[in-house]
Amino acid sequence: MTPQLTEFFHFLRFPSISTDRRHRDDVRDCANFLIQKFTGMGLQTELHETPGNPVVVAKNAPKPDRPTVLIYGHYDVQPVDPVDEWDTPPFEPTLKGDKIFCRGATDNKGQHFSHMLGVEETLEEHGDLPVNVIFLLEGEEEIGSPNLAPFLEQHREALKCDICAVSDTGMIGPGIPTMTYGLRGIACLEFKIHGPSLDLHSGVYGGAVPNPATIAARLVASLHNDSEVIQIPGFYDDVVPLEQWERDMWASLPDGDAATMDETGVAGLLGETGFTALEQRWGRPTAEVNGIGGGYQGEGSKTVIAREAMSKLSFRLVPDQAPEKILEHARQFLTAQCPDSCRIDVELGHFGPAYVMDPHSKYGKAAQRALETAFSGEPRLIREGGSIPIIQSIKDILGVDTLLLGLALPDCQIHAPNESFTVTNFEAGIRLNRALLEELAG
Ligand code: BES
Ligand code: ZN
Repeated sequence: MTPQLTEFFHFLRFPSISTDRRHRDDVRDCANFLIQKFTGMGLQTELHETPGNPVVVAKNAPKPDRPTVLIYGHYDVQPVDPVDEWDTPPFEPTLKGDKIFCRGATDNKGQHFSHMLGVEETLEEHGDLPVNVIFLLEGEEEIGSPNLAPFLEQHREALKCDICAVSDTGMIGPGIPTMTYGLRGIACLEFKIHGPSLDLHSGVYGGAVPNPATIAARLVASLHNDSEVIQIPGFYDDVVPLEQWERDMWASLPDGDAATMDETGVAGLLGETGFTALEQRWGRPTAEVNGIGGGYQGEGSKTVIAREAMSKLSFRLVPDQAPEKILEHARQFLTAQCPDSCRIDVELGHFGPAYVMDPHSKYGKAAQRALETAFSGEPRLIREGGSIPIIQSIKDILGVDTLLLGLALPDCQIHAPNESFTVTNFEAGIRLNRALLEELAG
Protein backbone atom coordinates (compact mmCIF):
# COMPACT_ATOMS: atom_id res chain seq x y z
CA MET A 1 0.00 0.00 0.00
CA THR A 2 1.35 3.41 -0.97
CA PRO A 3 0.73 6.31 1.43
CA GLN A 4 -1.65 7.77 -1.19
CA LEU A 5 -3.76 4.61 -1.21
CA THR A 6 -3.77 4.42 2.59
CA GLU A 7 -5.12 7.94 2.70
CA PHE A 8 -7.71 7.17 0.03
CA PHE A 9 -8.92 4.17 2.04
CA HIS A 10 -9.32 6.40 5.08
CA PHE A 11 -11.50 8.78 3.01
CA LEU A 12 -13.56 5.85 1.70
CA ARG A 13 -14.39 4.58 5.19
CA PHE A 14 -16.73 7.50 5.98
CA PRO A 15 -20.27 6.28 5.26
CA SER A 16 -21.28 9.65 3.85
CA ILE A 17 -24.72 8.64 2.57
CA SER A 18 -26.66 11.82 1.86
CA THR A 19 -30.15 10.34 1.39
CA ASP A 20 -30.21 8.93 4.89
CA ARG A 21 -30.52 11.38 7.80
CA ARG A 22 -28.98 8.86 10.18
CA HIS A 23 -25.68 9.44 8.39
CA ARG A 24 -25.64 13.23 8.87
CA ASP A 25 -22.72 13.07 11.28
CA ASP A 26 -20.77 10.70 9.02
CA VAL A 27 -21.24 13.13 6.15
CA ARG A 28 -19.91 15.94 8.34
CA ASP A 29 -16.94 13.86 9.52
CA CYS A 30 -16.14 13.17 5.88
CA ALA A 31 -16.22 16.91 5.10
CA ASN A 32 -13.89 17.53 8.04
CA PHE A 33 -11.48 14.93 6.72
CA LEU A 34 -11.31 16.91 3.47
CA ILE A 35 -10.76 20.14 5.39
CA GLN A 36 -7.81 18.56 7.20
CA LYS A 37 -6.38 17.18 3.99
CA PHE A 38 -6.60 20.50 2.13
CA THR A 39 -5.21 22.41 5.08
CA GLY A 40 -2.29 19.98 5.22
CA MET A 41 -1.66 20.65 1.52
CA GLY A 42 -1.26 24.33 2.36
CA LEU A 43 -4.47 25.45 0.66
CA GLN A 44 -6.79 28.17 1.98
CA THR A 45 -9.62 25.98 3.17
CA GLU A 46 -13.18 26.71 4.31
CA LEU A 47 -16.08 24.59 5.48
CA HIS A 48 -19.33 26.34 4.58
CA GLU A 49 -22.55 25.48 6.33
CA THR A 50 -25.70 25.17 4.21
CA PRO A 51 -29.25 24.23 5.24
CA GLY A 52 -28.08 20.68 4.40
CA ASN A 53 -24.60 19.18 4.24
CA PRO A 54 -21.46 21.33 4.31
CA VAL A 55 -19.63 22.54 1.21
CA VAL A 56 -15.84 22.35 1.22
CA VAL A 57 -13.88 25.03 -0.64
CA ALA A 58 -10.08 25.08 -0.96
CA LYS A 59 -7.85 27.43 -2.98
CA ASN A 60 -4.19 28.04 -3.64
CA ALA A 61 -2.95 31.64 -3.40
CA PRO A 62 -4.45 33.23 -6.52
CA LYS A 63 -2.29 35.18 -8.97
CA PRO A 64 -3.88 37.63 -11.40
CA ASP A 65 -2.00 36.62 -14.56
CA ARG A 66 -3.18 33.05 -14.90
CA PRO A 67 -6.48 31.24 -15.41
CA THR A 68 -8.61 29.99 -12.54
CA VAL A 69 -9.83 26.40 -12.66
CA LEU A 70 -12.75 25.26 -10.55
CA ILE A 71 -12.59 21.54 -9.70
CA TYR A 72 -15.97 20.19 -8.59
CA GLY A 73 -16.71 16.86 -6.94
CA HIS A 74 -19.07 15.29 -4.40
CA TYR A 75 -18.09 13.48 -1.22
CA ASP A 76 -21.58 12.11 -0.54
CA VAL A 77 -22.39 8.60 -1.71
CA GLN A 78 -25.40 6.45 -2.55
CA PRO A 79 -27.02 4.08 -0.03
CA VAL A 80 -25.56 0.57 0.10
CA ASP A 81 -28.67 -1.57 -0.05
CA PRO A 82 -29.20 -4.36 -0.96
CA VAL A 83 -26.39 -4.84 1.56
CA ASP A 84 -26.50 -8.66 1.37
CA GLU A 85 -25.30 -8.52 -2.21
CA TRP A 86 -21.94 -7.01 -1.30
CA ASP A 87 -19.06 -9.50 -1.27
CA THR A 88 -17.12 -7.29 1.17
CA PRO A 89 -18.39 -4.74 3.72
CA PRO A 90 -19.53 -1.65 1.76
CA PHE A 91 -17.48 0.81 3.79
CA GLU A 92 -14.38 -1.33 4.28
CA PRO A 93 -12.24 -0.62 1.20
CA THR A 94 -10.95 -3.95 -0.09
CA LEU A 95 -8.22 -4.34 -2.67
CA LYS A 96 -8.54 -7.35 -4.99
CA GLY A 97 -6.11 -7.30 -7.89
CA ASP A 98 -6.38 -3.84 -9.43
CA LYS A 99 -9.84 -3.11 -7.98
CA ILE A 100 -10.71 -1.24 -4.81
CA PHE A 101 -14.19 -2.23 -3.68
CA CYS A 102 -16.12 0.30 -1.58
CA ARG A 103 -19.24 2.45 -1.83
CA GLY A 104 -18.13 5.78 -3.31
CA ALA A 105 -14.86 4.37 -4.67
CA THR A 106 -15.69 5.64 -8.18
CA ASP A 107 -18.77 7.83 -7.52
CA ASN A 108 -17.22 10.14 -6.62
CA LYS A 109 -14.51 9.92 -3.96
CA GLY A 110 -11.83 8.21 -6.04
CA GLN A 111 -12.28 10.56 -8.96
CA HIS A 112 -11.95 13.85 -7.07
CA PHE A 113 -9.40 12.51 -4.59
CA SER A 114 -7.04 11.75 -7.46
CA HIS A 115 -7.33 15.41 -8.52
CA MET A 116 -6.50 16.42 -4.94
CA LEU A 117 -3.42 14.21 -4.98
CA GLY A 118 -2.38 15.58 -8.37
CA VAL A 119 -2.42 19.06 -6.90
CA GLU A 120 -0.58 17.86 -3.81
CA GLU A 121 2.19 16.28 -5.91
CA THR A 122 2.61 19.41 -8.03
CA LEU A 123 2.77 21.60 -4.93
CA GLU A 124 5.35 19.31 -3.34
CA GLU A 125 7.51 19.32 -6.45
CA HIS A 126 7.18 22.95 -7.57
CA GLY A 127 5.86 24.84 -4.55
CA ASP A 128 3.12 26.30 -6.76
CA LEU A 129 0.52 25.33 -9.35
CA PRO A 130 0.50 26.56 -12.96
CA VAL A 131 -3.03 27.97 -12.48
CA ASN A 132 -5.29 29.24 -9.72
CA VAL A 133 -7.31 26.31 -8.43
CA ILE A 134 -10.56 26.32 -6.49
CA PHE A 135 -11.81 22.96 -5.23
CA LEU A 136 -15.56 22.87 -4.64
CA LEU A 137 -16.71 19.64 -3.00
CA GLU A 138 -20.33 19.17 -1.99
CA GLY A 139 -22.18 16.60 0.11
CA GLU A 140 -25.57 16.54 -1.61
CA GLU A 141 -25.05 15.55 -5.25
CA GLU A 142 -26.81 12.22 -4.88
CA ILE A 143 -29.95 13.99 -3.66
CA GLY A 144 -30.01 16.55 -6.46
CA SER A 145 -27.74 19.27 -4.97
CA PRO A 146 -30.62 21.22 -3.35
CA ASN A 147 -28.33 23.77 -1.69
CA LEU A 148 -25.50 24.17 -4.16
CA ALA A 149 -27.05 26.52 -6.73
CA PRO A 150 -27.96 29.03 -3.96
CA PHE A 151 -24.40 28.59 -2.67
CA LEU A 152 -23.00 29.45 -6.11
CA GLU A 153 -25.21 32.56 -6.20
CA GLN A 154 -24.03 33.68 -2.76
CA HIS A 155 -20.35 33.06 -3.50
CA ARG A 156 -20.30 34.14 -7.12
CA GLU A 157 -17.30 36.43 -6.56
CA ALA A 158 -15.24 33.96 -4.52
CA LEU A 159 -15.90 31.22 -7.07
CA LYS A 160 -15.14 33.36 -10.12
CA CYS A 161 -13.24 31.18 -12.58
CA ASP A 162 -12.43 30.63 -16.25
CA ILE A 163 -13.28 26.97 -16.59
CA CYS A 164 -14.60 24.09 -14.49
CA ALA A 165 -13.24 20.52 -14.50
CA VAL A 166 -15.08 17.50 -13.16
CA SER A 167 -14.30 13.80 -13.06
CA ASP A 168 -17.71 12.24 -12.35
CA THR A 169 -18.51 10.52 -15.64
CA GLY A 170 -17.41 7.39 -17.49
CA MET A 171 -14.73 6.07 -19.82
CA ILE A 172 -15.88 3.89 -22.66
CA GLY A 173 -13.37 1.20 -21.70
CA PRO A 174 -10.21 0.60 -19.66
CA GLY A 175 -7.35 2.78 -20.86
CA ILE A 176 -9.52 4.63 -23.40
CA PRO A 177 -9.40 8.36 -22.62
CA THR A 178 -12.90 9.76 -22.81
CA MET A 179 -14.18 13.30 -22.80
CA THR A 180 -17.86 13.82 -22.13
CA TYR A 181 -19.32 16.93 -23.73
CA GLY A 182 -22.94 16.41 -22.74
CA LEU A 183 -25.09 15.03 -19.94
CA ARG A 184 -28.76 14.23 -19.90
CA GLY A 185 -31.03 16.21 -17.61
CA ILE A 186 -33.46 14.68 -15.19
CA ALA A 187 -36.98 15.28 -13.89
CA CYS A 188 -38.61 13.12 -11.23
CA LEU A 189 -42.17 12.58 -10.06
CA GLU A 190 -44.18 10.18 -7.98
CA PHE A 191 -47.85 9.36 -8.37
CA LYS A 192 -50.32 7.62 -6.09
CA ILE A 193 -53.62 6.11 -7.13
CA HIS A 194 -56.26 6.12 -4.39
CA GLY A 195 -59.24 3.82 -4.85
CA PRO A 196 -61.47 2.25 -2.19
CA SER A 197 -61.41 3.81 1.28
CA LEU A 198 -60.07 0.55 2.76
CA ASP A 199 -58.34 -2.66 1.65
CA LEU A 200 -60.96 -5.04 0.25
CA HIS A 201 -61.52 -8.78 -0.10
CA SER A 202 -60.78 -9.29 -3.79
CA GLY A 203 -63.38 -12.05 -4.11
CA VAL A 204 -66.18 -10.17 -2.44
CA TYR A 205 -65.65 -6.88 -4.33
CA GLY A 206 -63.38 -7.80 -7.27
CA GLY A 207 -64.96 -7.14 -10.65
CA ALA A 208 -67.00 -4.19 -9.47
CA VAL A 209 -64.56 -1.75 -7.89
CA PRO A 210 -61.42 -0.18 -9.40
CA ASN A 211 -58.14 -1.77 -8.40
CA PRO A 212 -55.51 0.98 -7.87
CA ALA A 213 -52.67 -1.42 -8.75
CA THR A 214 -54.25 -2.12 -12.14
CA ILE A 215 -54.75 1.58 -12.79
CA ALA A 216 -51.14 2.35 -11.81
CA ALA A 217 -49.92 -0.40 -14.13
CA ARG A 218 -52.04 1.00 -16.98
CA LEU A 219 -50.63 4.47 -16.50
CA VAL A 220 -47.09 3.15 -16.49
CA ALA A 221 -47.78 1.06 -19.58
CA SER A 222 -49.23 4.05 -21.39
CA LEU A 223 -45.93 5.94 -21.29
CA HIS A 224 -44.52 4.14 -24.38
CA ASN A 225 -45.93 2.72 -27.59
CA ASP A 226 -44.68 -0.45 -29.30
CA SER A 227 -41.77 1.43 -30.88
CA GLU A 228 -40.76 2.69 -27.42
CA VAL A 229 -41.73 6.22 -28.34
CA ILE A 230 -42.94 8.25 -25.35
CA GLN A 231 -46.63 9.07 -25.65
CA ILE A 232 -46.86 12.17 -23.45
CA PRO A 233 -48.13 14.98 -25.68
CA GLY A 234 -45.48 17.69 -26.11
CA PHE A 235 -42.68 15.50 -24.72
CA TYR A 236 -40.49 15.74 -27.84
CA ASP A 237 -41.39 19.34 -28.76
CA ASP A 238 -38.05 20.91 -27.86
CA VAL A 239 -35.72 17.95 -28.46
CA VAL A 240 -32.63 18.98 -30.43
CA PRO A 241 -31.81 16.18 -32.90
CA LEU A 242 -28.38 14.56 -32.77
CA GLU A 243 -25.87 16.06 -35.17
CA GLN A 244 -24.38 13.91 -37.90
CA TRP A 245 -20.81 14.24 -36.55
CA GLU A 246 -21.95 12.84 -33.21
CA ARG A 247 -23.74 9.91 -34.78
CA ASP A 248 -20.62 9.20 -36.88
CA MET A 249 -18.30 9.54 -33.89
CA TRP A 250 -20.37 7.19 -31.76
CA ALA A 251 -20.78 4.71 -34.61
CA SER A 252 -16.97 4.52 -34.76
CA LEU A 253 -16.72 3.41 -31.11
CA PRO A 254 -16.59 -0.27 -30.16
CA ASP A 255 -20.04 -1.83 -30.77
CA GLY A 256 -22.33 -0.04 -28.32
CA ASP A 257 -25.26 -2.43 -28.68
CA ALA A 258 -23.07 -5.41 -27.76
CA ALA A 259 -21.38 -3.50 -24.93
CA THR A 260 -24.75 -2.44 -23.53
CA MET A 261 -25.96 -6.04 -23.49
CA ASP A 262 -22.72 -7.25 -22.04
CA GLU A 263 -22.60 -4.65 -19.24
CA THR A 264 -26.22 -5.14 -18.23
CA GLY A 265 -26.69 -8.87 -18.72
CA VAL A 266 -29.92 -8.46 -20.71
CA ALA A 267 -30.87 -10.99 -23.39
CA GLY A 268 -31.82 -8.28 -25.88
CA LEU A 269 -32.24 -4.54 -26.23
CA LEU A 270 -35.52 -2.68 -26.22
CA GLY A 271 -35.25 0.96 -27.16
CA GLU A 272 -36.69 3.66 -29.36
CA THR A 273 -36.78 2.49 -32.99
CA GLY A 274 -34.28 4.15 -35.33
CA PHE A 275 -31.45 4.75 -32.84
CA THR A 276 -28.45 2.75 -31.71
CA ALA A 277 -28.06 1.89 -28.04
CA LEU A 278 -25.46 4.63 -27.57
CA GLU A 279 -27.74 7.18 -29.22
CA GLN A 280 -30.63 6.03 -27.03
CA ARG A 281 -28.49 6.25 -23.88
CA TRP A 282 -26.67 9.51 -24.58
CA GLY A 283 -28.77 11.53 -26.97
CA ARG A 284 -32.44 10.63 -26.59
CA PRO A 285 -34.88 11.38 -23.76
CA THR A 286 -36.51 8.63 -21.71
CA ALA A 287 -39.32 7.85 -19.30
CA GLU A 288 -38.29 5.27 -16.71
CA VAL A 289 -40.15 3.55 -13.91
CA ASN A 290 -37.85 3.57 -10.88
CA GLY A 291 -40.40 2.10 -8.53
CA ILE A 292 -43.87 0.61 -8.66
CA GLY A 293 -45.85 -0.78 -5.82
CA GLY A 294 -49.22 -1.64 -4.42
CA GLY A 295 -50.96 -4.61 -2.93
CA TYR A 296 -49.50 -7.58 -1.16
CA GLN A 297 -45.73 -8.12 -1.47
CA GLY A 298 -45.23 -10.87 1.14
CA GLU A 299 -44.90 -14.62 0.86
CA GLY A 300 -47.68 -16.65 -0.72
CA SER A 301 -50.87 -15.09 -2.00
CA LYS A 302 -53.26 -12.72 -0.31
CA THR A 303 -56.58 -12.02 -1.99
CA VAL A 304 -56.78 -8.30 -1.50
CA ILE A 305 -57.55 -5.15 -3.46
CA ALA A 306 -55.26 -2.65 -1.79
CA ARG A 307 -56.71 0.82 -1.40
CA GLU A 308 -53.76 2.53 -3.07
CA ALA A 309 -50.83 1.99 -5.44
CA MET A 310 -47.85 4.10 -6.41
CA SER A 311 -45.07 4.58 -8.88
CA LYS A 312 -41.92 6.69 -9.03
CA LEU A 313 -40.92 7.91 -12.47
CA SER A 314 -37.94 9.79 -13.80
CA PHE A 315 -37.43 11.35 -17.19
CA ARG A 316 -33.97 11.78 -18.69
CA LEU A 317 -33.86 14.89 -20.81
CA VAL A 318 -31.80 16.19 -23.70
CA PRO A 319 -31.23 19.72 -24.98
CA ASP A 320 -33.52 21.83 -25.13
CA GLN A 321 -36.22 20.13 -23.06
CA ALA A 322 -37.22 22.27 -20.08
CA PRO A 323 -37.67 20.03 -17.02
CA GLU A 324 -40.55 22.07 -15.56
CA LYS A 325 -42.43 21.84 -18.85
CA ILE A 326 -41.85 18.08 -19.11
CA LEU A 327 -43.10 17.53 -15.56
CA GLU A 328 -46.21 19.55 -16.30
CA HIS A 329 -46.90 17.59 -19.51
CA ALA A 330 -46.43 14.34 -17.59
CA ARG A 331 -48.71 15.43 -14.77
CA GLN A 332 -51.47 16.28 -17.24
CA PHE A 333 -51.00 13.04 -19.18
CA LEU A 334 -51.24 10.88 -16.07
CA THR A 335 -54.10 12.84 -14.52
CA ALA A 336 -56.18 12.72 -17.71
CA GLN A 337 -55.96 8.92 -17.78
CA CYS A 338 -56.95 8.25 -14.20
CA PRO A 339 -60.56 7.05 -14.24
CA ASP A 340 -63.16 9.04 -12.29
CA SER A 341 -63.56 6.07 -9.95
CA CYS A 342 -60.08 6.76 -8.49
CA ARG A 343 -58.08 9.77 -7.42
CA ILE A 344 -54.52 10.43 -8.54
CA ASP A 345 -51.98 12.52 -6.61
CA VAL A 346 -48.90 13.56 -8.55
CA GLU A 347 -45.99 14.90 -6.56
CA LEU A 348 -43.26 16.57 -8.57
CA GLY A 349 -39.66 15.89 -7.51
CA HIS A 350 -36.21 17.29 -8.21
CA PHE A 351 -35.07 18.15 -11.70
CA GLY A 352 -32.28 19.71 -13.75
CA PRO A 353 -31.76 20.36 -17.47
CA ALA A 354 -29.39 18.60 -19.87
CA TYR A 355 -25.94 20.05 -20.51
CA VAL A 356 -23.81 20.30 -23.65
CA MET A 357 -20.59 22.15 -24.37
CA ASP A 358 -18.37 22.50 -27.42
CA PRO A 359 -15.58 19.91 -27.14
CA HIS A 360 -13.65 21.76 -29.84
CA SER A 361 -13.35 24.99 -27.83
CA LYS A 362 -9.94 26.19 -26.59
CA TYR A 363 -10.39 24.59 -23.18
CA GLY A 364 -12.02 21.51 -24.71
CA LYS A 365 -8.91 20.94 -26.82
CA ALA A 366 -6.63 21.52 -23.82
CA ALA A 367 -8.58 18.88 -21.91
CA GLN A 368 -8.18 16.40 -24.76
CA ARG A 369 -4.42 16.96 -24.81
CA ALA A 370 -4.31 16.32 -21.05
CA LEU A 371 -6.29 13.08 -21.50
CA GLU A 372 -3.87 12.03 -24.20
CA THR A 373 -0.91 12.63 -21.87
CA ALA A 374 -2.50 10.80 -18.95
CA PHE A 375 -3.67 7.74 -20.91
CA SER A 376 -1.51 7.88 -24.04
CA GLY A 377 -4.23 7.42 -26.61
CA GLU A 378 -6.55 9.58 -28.65
CA PRO A 379 -9.56 10.76 -26.61
CA ARG A 380 -13.06 9.70 -27.62
CA LEU A 381 -15.84 12.29 -27.48
CA ILE A 382 -19.10 11.12 -25.98
CA ARG A 383 -22.20 12.30 -24.17
CA GLU A 384 -23.46 10.51 -21.08
CA GLY A 385 -26.87 9.33 -20.04
CA GLY A 386 -26.42 10.21 -16.37
CA SER A 387 -27.06 13.64 -14.93
CA ILE A 388 -25.10 16.14 -12.87
CA PRO A 389 -27.62 18.98 -12.65
CA ILE A 390 -25.20 21.42 -11.01
CA ILE A 391 -23.10 21.53 -14.20
CA GLN A 392 -25.72 23.62 -15.98
CA SER A 393 -26.04 25.83 -12.87
CA ILE A 394 -22.28 26.39 -13.00
CA LYS A 395 -22.79 27.58 -16.58
CA ASP A 396 -25.78 29.78 -15.69
CA ILE A 397 -24.42 31.27 -12.45
CA LEU A 398 -20.64 31.34 -12.90
CA GLY A 399 -20.78 31.65 -16.68
CA VAL A 400 -18.25 28.89 -17.43
CA ASP A 401 -18.24 25.56 -19.22
CA THR A 402 -17.28 22.29 -17.58
CA LEU A 403 -14.73 19.77 -18.85
CA LEU A 404 -16.10 16.34 -17.96
CA LEU A 405 -13.12 14.03 -17.72
CA GLY A 406 -14.50 10.84 -16.27
CA LEU A 407 -12.61 7.94 -14.76
CA ALA A 408 -15.54 5.55 -14.18
CA LEU A 409 -15.25 2.22 -16.00
CA PRO A 410 -18.25 0.41 -17.49
CA ASP A 411 -17.97 -2.37 -14.88
CA CYS A 412 -17.42 -0.16 -11.81
CA GLN A 413 -21.00 -0.69 -10.56
CA ILE A 414 -21.75 2.83 -9.31
CA HIS A 415 -24.99 2.99 -7.28
CA ALA A 416 -25.00 -0.84 -7.09
CA PRO A 417 -23.47 -3.44 -4.74
CA ASN A 418 -19.71 -4.06 -5.13
CA GLU A 419 -18.83 -0.63 -6.50
CA SER A 420 -15.16 -0.44 -7.40
CA PHE A 421 -12.43 1.88 -8.67
CA THR A 422 -9.18 0.64 -10.16
CA VAL A 423 -5.76 1.56 -8.82
CA THR A 424 -4.86 2.13 -12.47
CA ASN A 425 -7.47 4.87 -12.80
CA PHE A 426 -6.63 6.31 -9.39
CA GLU A 427 -3.09 6.81 -10.66
CA ALA A 428 -4.25 7.97 -14.10
CA GLY A 429 -6.45 10.56 -12.36
CA ILE A 430 -3.41 11.98 -10.59
CA ARG A 431 -1.55 12.23 -13.90
CA LEU A 432 -4.63 13.70 -15.56
CA ASN A 433 -4.87 16.47 -12.99
CA ARG A 434 -1.23 17.36 -13.43
CA ALA A 435 -1.44 17.40 -17.22
CA LEU A 436 -4.74 19.28 -17.18
CA LEU A 437 -3.50 22.15 -15.03
CA GLU A 438 -0.42 22.44 -17.26
CA GLU A 439 -2.53 22.51 -20.43
CA LEU A 440 -5.03 24.97 -19.03
CA ALA A 441 -2.21 27.27 -17.95
CA GLY A 442 -1.51 27.99 -21.56
N1 BES B 1 -21.78 10.47 -11.30
C1 BES B 1 -23.18 10.35 -11.44
C2 BES B 1 -23.69 10.80 -12.79
C3 BES B 1 -23.13 10.06 -13.94
C4 BES B 1 -22.89 8.70 -13.91
C5 BES B 1 -22.86 10.75 -15.08
C6 BES B 1 -22.36 8.06 -15.01
C7 BES B 1 -22.35 10.10 -16.16
C8 BES B 1 -22.09 8.75 -16.12
C9 BES B 1 -23.89 11.15 -10.37
O1 BES B 1 -23.34 10.92 -9.10
C10 BES B 1 -25.34 10.69 -10.29
O2 BES B 1 -25.57 9.57 -9.97
N2 BES B 1 -26.28 11.58 -10.60
C11 BES B 1 -27.68 11.31 -10.50
C12 BES B 1 -28.45 12.59 -10.56
C13 BES B 1 -29.12 13.03 -9.32
C14 BES B 1 -29.94 14.27 -9.53
C15 BES B 1 -29.75 12.04 -8.45
C16 BES B 1 -28.21 10.49 -11.66
O3 BES B 1 -27.71 10.62 -12.78
O4 BES B 1 -29.14 9.73 -11.43
ZN1 ZN C 1 -24.03 8.99 -8.34
